[in-house]
Amino acid sequence: MKYYLDWPEPDSGHPPPPDQDIEPWGETRVVGKPIPRIDAYERVSGTALYTLDMTLPDMLHAAIVRCPHAHARVVRVDTSRAEGMPGVRAVITASTPGATIPWYFGQGGPTSTLFDERCRYAGEEVAAVAAETWHQAWEAARAIDVEYEVLPFVLDDEVALTPESPAIHEGGNVLSQDTSERGDVEAGFAEADVVLECTYHTPCQLHTPMETYVSIARWDGNRLTVWDSNQGVFGIQAGLARFLRLPLTSVRVICRYMGGGFGSKLGVSKYTVIAALLARMTARPVKAALTREESFLCVGNRPADTITLKAGVKRDGTLTALQGRFLGSGGAYPAGANSAFLVQALYRCPNVRIDDNSVYTNAGPGRPFRAPGFPNCAWALEQTMDDLAEAIGMDPVEFRLKNIATFLQINDTPYTSIGLSECLSEGATTFGWAEARGRSRESGHLRRGIGVAAAMWAWQGDPRATVIVKLFADGSANLNMGASDLGTGTKTVMAMVVTEELGVPLDKIQIEHADTGTTQNAPSSGGSQTLLVMAPAVRAAAIEVKSQLLEVAATELERPVEELTLRDGKVVPVDEPDGGTDLASLRGLRGRQVIVGVGRRHPHPEGKIALPFAAQFAEVEVNTLTGEVRVLRLVAAHDSGRMMNQLTYENQVFGGMTMGIGFGLTEERILDRRQTGVVVNANWHDYKIPTAKDVPVDNTCVPIDPHDTECNTTGAKGLGEPAHIPTAAAIANAVYHATGVRVTDAPITRGRMLAALAAERGE
Ligand code: MOS
Repeated sequence: MKYYLDWPEPDSGHPPPPDQDIEPWGETRVVGKPIPRIDAYERVSGTALYTLDMTLPDMLHAAIVRCPHAHARVVRVDTSRAEGMPGVRAVITASTPGATIPWYFGQGGPTSTLFDERCRYAGEEVAAVAAETWHQAWEAARAIDVEYEVLPFVLDDEVALTPESPAIHEGGNVLSQDTSERGDVEAGFAEADVVLECTYHTPCQLHTPMETYVSIARWDGNRLTVWDSNQGVFGIQAGLARFLRLPLTSVRVICRYMGGGFGSKLGVSKYTVIAALLARMTARPVKAALTREESFLCVGNRPADTITLKAGVKRDGTLTALQGRFLGSGGAYPAGANSAFLVQALYRCPNVRIDDNSVYTNAGPGRPFRAPGFPNCAWALEQTMDDLAEAIGMDPVEFRLKNIATFLQINDTPYTSIGLSECLSEGATTFGWAEARGRSRESGHLRRGIGVAAAMWAWQGDPRATVIVKLFADGSANLNMGASDLGTGTKTVMAMVVTEELGVPLDKIQIEHADTGTTQNAPSSGGSQTLLVMAPAVRAAAIEVKSQLLEVAATELERPVEELTLRDGKVVPVDEPDGGTDLASLRGLRGRQVIVGVGRRHPHPEGKIALPFAAQFAEVEVNTLTGEVRVLRLVAAHDSGRMMNQLTYENQVFGGMTMGIGFGLTEERILDRRQTGVVVNANWHDYKIPTAKDVPVDNTCVPIDPHDTECNTTGAKGLGEPAHIPTAAAIANAVYHATGVRVTDAPITRGRMLAALAAERGE
């Protein structure tokens, strides 16, 4: 599947390495500790100002008119009534001068315009209004009269592949049809003792971040400032500059607090450009905040996937062949759908064939979503692995351990480290796998079972990050870092890195982040890369400060630099650990007033690849009368390298697993495929994300640290996405263990569970 997203290619050039050679960390003093977030009080007390909370003086509010049809042509837009309504200051449509902006979600993707006369999904933008209040804006938006010519639509992926299907873009509905093969799958199947084949289906999952989608645009002359909820201010800045034809320096994007994105806030969306245009028309700041309902329609989703997997295995547990057919659709404007990576790479297998089909349909745009394509692929692969293990009479954990690959199967690249065996074995020990496997599982209509699933992630990050650390005369410090903190604790962990190197206490570190006007370039917080890209750059900047500071201190204290270290806000001689001089009392520091260190991320190691691995274990209870599946406990063993902060690490893992419970059991965008083609559960009542009652209390996190000294100078690998990949598959395997029934379609709702149980009984 092609990713139509402005996401840098890994080989698009590297920054020069840091100025100093930096040794990997050994033991750390602060890093790794369970330290609460430095902005925890602001976040829980409601004083943290998210973009959605912000109001600027003289600010107007935008409302967007959206096409109610799955496929339609805009014949006529009459704005006359809306323009005369109270509070209305501007109305924009396709015919407004300057609004005919060519639109695409990334280089090479399908093109349209900002307000396209052809609407290809229900929810596409047709017009917009700016008014004094939000209610006035919505009243006016409703008063815009749009005449549509309704066109036939297609929502079924298989139908979209056929020539009779309505064409959504010029050239038809096939986005990509790729085949790849290594080895010879037919020979592999011939060699196998057991060959199994099964078709799996995964749902369209919606991002639904706590903070919906919002931009506030303000012009000062020809300079645009946008306060925006996003995953990377530099990516949004570049996108806005492109759409508005402005130099980068005329666009400033700021993201102070951020309420989640999960992949949907990596690229510029239309509401941001609409806010900028309305602000220019009115010479007033304009806030465009999407409603919860809109956030279900037009800003992205994890596309549904249909995966047919055929697998061959020998009696001794050797995989001989894997063959997968993937069919998915990222809707009318895809930016990521299926991924076969896990089939191609997680296990050692010489013969693998993938047929990857992606089509356009008249549905809302797919966007990257927490490990795009991977939970889908794990759903199919890890259930197949379970079936294979059962067919040859092998324990599922043993079977996976036997097939672990020691290098990346796709291109034979060795890993800098791989802790997957430990994830499986130590996870199984913590879970009590062997005992639970033998335990009685049945008590009347309640059946208990356990399951496991493994995972890896495919991206080692975009290393182009530059960070500045400043040490002030009183011994306090400023960390200037471009990355957004999505709520994962980025600011906290980066401050801990500064403390580790400079000894400045956490409460004396001020952070300036995610502002293209004042901070340095950082890649977007996506792809599980933020920590492993930013932390080495922060470390390098702190070390630049440290070496200058130690020079100053060495002269002043008349000791060689090698005999001095930094700790607890002091310069401490290594032979007098209880002594030391406060940084604030160093005359050399007061004389300079500030010491500045610039740090860059070093390139990735050559000839090796640094990737994270995981194994998760689930115990479930299935009610065979109601079909309810309850997750009783989860154990997550992750090799994400060094654990930088125990609390934020566990938060990521538990959050990822919670989202996995949703993917496996409750979440599903439902389209009215027959009549209207619209999303029928575009709200948090009918689209079920897990609540506190759906998540087990008994969650355990087992960090596996292979002490990777090659991946980067901190030893940390990615975590955010791996935490979500295997959960649903582990739950599905536990459901099978509990009931003897394989539910191949996610989510395992009560209806699907009951239907599968009935089918098993021959009903
Ligand atoms: Mo992620 S899907 O790279 O935010």
